[in-house]
Amino acid sequence: MLNKKEVEEIRKDFLYLDKKYNNPIVYLDNAATSQKPIQVIDSVSEYYKYENANPHRGAHTLSVLSTEVYENGRKKVAKFINAREESEVVFTRNTTESLNLLAYSYANEKLKEGDEIVISIMEHHSNLVTWQEAAKKTNAKLKYLYIDKKTKQLDFEEFKNAITEKTKIFSITQASNVVGTMPDVEKMIKYVKSVNKDCICIVDCAQYIPHNKVDVQKLGCDFLVFSGHKMLSIMGAGVLYGRKELLNSLKPFLYGGDMIEYVFEDKSSYLDAPGRFEAGTQDVGAVKSLISAIDYIENIGIENIRDYEKSLMDYAYDRILEKSDIIDVYTTNDKNRSPVLDFNFKEAHPHDVASIMDSFGIAIRSGHHCAQPLHRYLQTNFSCRASFAFYNTIEEVDFFIEHLEDVRRLMRIGTK
Ligand code: ALA
Repeated sequence: MLNKKEVEEIRKDFLYLDKKYNNPIVYLDNAATSQKPIQVIDSVSEYYKYENANPHRGAHTLSVLSTEVYENGRKKVAKFINAREESEVVFTRNTTESLNLLAYSYANEKLKEGDEIVISIMEHHSNLVTWQEAAKKTNAKLKYLYIDKKTKQLDFEEFKNAITEKTKIFSITQASNVVGTMPDVEKMIKYVKSVNKDCICIVDCAQYIPHNKVDVQKLGCDFLVFSGHKMLSIMGAGVLYGRKELLNSLKPFLYGGDMIEYVFEDKSSYLDAPGRFEAGTQDVGAVKSLISAIDYIENIGIENIRDYEKSLMDYAYDRILEKSDIIDVYTTNDKNRSPVLDFNFKEAHPHDVASIMDSFGIAIRSGHHCAQPLHRYLQTNFSCRASFAFYNTIEEVDFFIEHLEDVRRLMRIGTK
């Protein structure tokens, strides 16, 4: 696990900590997007200074360099998630685009009336609205797995009951961005495949991969999606991992340049994956930043990151429970959880809470966190969320917890 001195060193790489804002910033909105270390920012600058050209399209030196950067990114990601080969890695803009590609393709080509799609109530809208639309288009049935309202865990027996031979798509988050629950996805996929080996199993890894080791072969999933920007990279590098034969069984999602083989006036043929899903000029700068982000994470060690963040999270969770007279906590009490602390003041709106915290330089998220059905299920419309990264400190957690008292004071909570 990282020690205090190591974290101090790491913090030197994050320049927002140096800048003079109205207040020094305590950034606790890492689940929305991470901050970027200077090495990542510099890697993009290097790309644009010395390697920029349109990849895959030129015979000249810069185009060849740009292509190399892009394809090295694919190799890097494939190794990072233990894909069988690099052609199983498709670059998209983000998790949402990856999931749209899958939902659109399966709705257009594979799903039919009577088929079932199983997701959980914890899904981010990107893994929910997409399947709603797919179900609407095909008359497939969309089924939800519900969490226990107290423990925020899925019940394995209920899950087993939901999976049948009609289940054609099983798409689930590996870490909830609200309640922090981390379902045993590997065990679930194993069960789904035992019932219907052709069921497509998709893992939304957006909130899991910044904190944990991911191994797609061990998970046994067919597809896995995530965004670089939540794991130190700049925005614009999303990943869709897919088993090669499945990717090649899908039609392209976007048509145009660089995804074709031959184009005639009346017909065209397309590249195999990954090229067939990467129409248009690719975001090489973002991919270069993802390479640098992975280097940065690997240099620290993902287990060190996970253990340190867990210690911050457990501490924050215990401390916020001291305020249970005024605060409801939604995060699961299971210690195997993602570092997101979700809560509501019983008598203050999340936007007021977030604004008051911001007046002290503390950045938390407020709202529905792109998970309206989950909030409704938990009988609220919105919540506040503090989410931690390895460059946060115990002192920052204390600062955040102590300033919750200012919300009590300024909102006159308990004085009515
Ligand atoms: N999905 C991101 C979040 O949870 C934006 O905040």
